[in-house]
Amino acid sequence: MHALILAGGKGTRLRPLTVYTPKPIVPFLNRPFLLYQLEILQRAGIEDITLSLSYQPDKIEQILGDGSEYGVRLRFITEPSPMGTGGAYKFAAHDVRDTTVVLNGDILTDLDISAAIAFHRAKKATATIVLAPVENPSAYGLVETGDDDRVLRFREKPSAEELAGLRTNTINAGIYILEPEVLDLIPEGQNHSFEYNVFPDLLSSEKPFYAYILKDEYWRDIGNPESYLQGHHDFLSGRISGFEIETGGRAEISHTAIVDRNSIIDDDTIVKPNARVINSVIGKGVLVEEKAIVENSVVWSHTRIAHGAEVRRAVVGRSCHIGKNVSVTDGAVLGDKTSLTDYTKT
Ligand code: GDD
Ligand code: MG
Repeated sequence: MHALILAGGKGTRLRPLTVYTPKPIVPFLNRPFLLYQLEILQRAGIEDITLSLSYQPDKIEQILGDGSEYGVRLRFITEPSPMGTGGAYKFAAHDVRDTTVVLNGDILTDLDISAAIAFHRAKKATATIVLAPVENPSAYGLVETGDDDRVLRFREKPSAEELAGLRTNTINAGIYILEPEVLDLIPEGQNHSFEYNVFPDLLSSEKPFYAYILKDEYWRDIGNPESYLQGHHDFLSGRISGFEIETGGRAEISHTAIVDRNSIIDDDTIVKPNARVINSVIGKGVLVEEKAIVENSVVWSHTRIAHGAEVRRAVVGRSCHIGKNVSVTDGAVLGDKTSLTDYTKT
């Protein structure tokens, strides 16, 4: 068994965080995001993983290496220009002779992939798509299923009008198990989409196309800043299980600083006297100076938060300088190297 991770999108909705860092390796809980996907694949015994890249591929390859550090074997395929999700699968066809698990590279889940594979095999499916129930399905691919778990309809990002006519809240979770014959539905060398082309074609061909519906598993697309931050909070509040996160044993925290038990602070970070870090994730080599407050936020490495500054419910990129008494408030997202003059309010 083999896996293909679609990691070639530009990550536009996650800007400015993705200006210098492609979405697949944005730090999540201080580790490159894709490591969580490698981990669930490896748990299912899938160690041969191809990453399908297009945007800033060298950075991704450099960070992940050959995968041996994570117990997997990684291969990288870079499209000359983005081929679309289905086109990317076809472009990697040399690597996908076998049954393949395909993952969107921006979803965070603790799904037991081996259970989904067992379902796929039991159904003798040509394709199985994992579905997640969500409250607001409009930003996703909506999928209607029958009593026997067959997929009846797939509609990518329906209009509000159309949405009203669809009787389902189950969406495409961006995890597919595909037999190689799916490749026959995709033209060579063209931009092609699973969502707009391949899945509708599978339905009209009446091939066995099934849905594996998530129940208690965690699932989230971290592809916009709000969701990225919420994913962190879900972890800090214990809603995601099974991933071990090391908290920095080598952080230097003043006796008079307060760091709550939820927060995760990476190595070489300094939290100075009377500073407070509450329910937050802080990367390596960050300086939180006297009386500064970081609350419900994510701060990437090598940022400096000066005396008396407040960062609340925000995401702060790498190597930023938040000046004295600055107030960074709800929903702010600061790209790498942002510098805020003392007393700035966002
Ligand atoms: N290699 C490659 N080439 N990868 C691509 C390309 C491409 O041309 N285009 C997109 N991708 C990758 C992205 O990097 C991302 O990991 C994944 O494909 C999905 O793209 P998104 O841009 O994040 O799509 P979305 O979130 O709007 O919608 C998709 O995901 C939803 C679940 O999160 C769809 O699959 C929806 O149907 C689904 O509900
Ligand atoms: Mg997405």
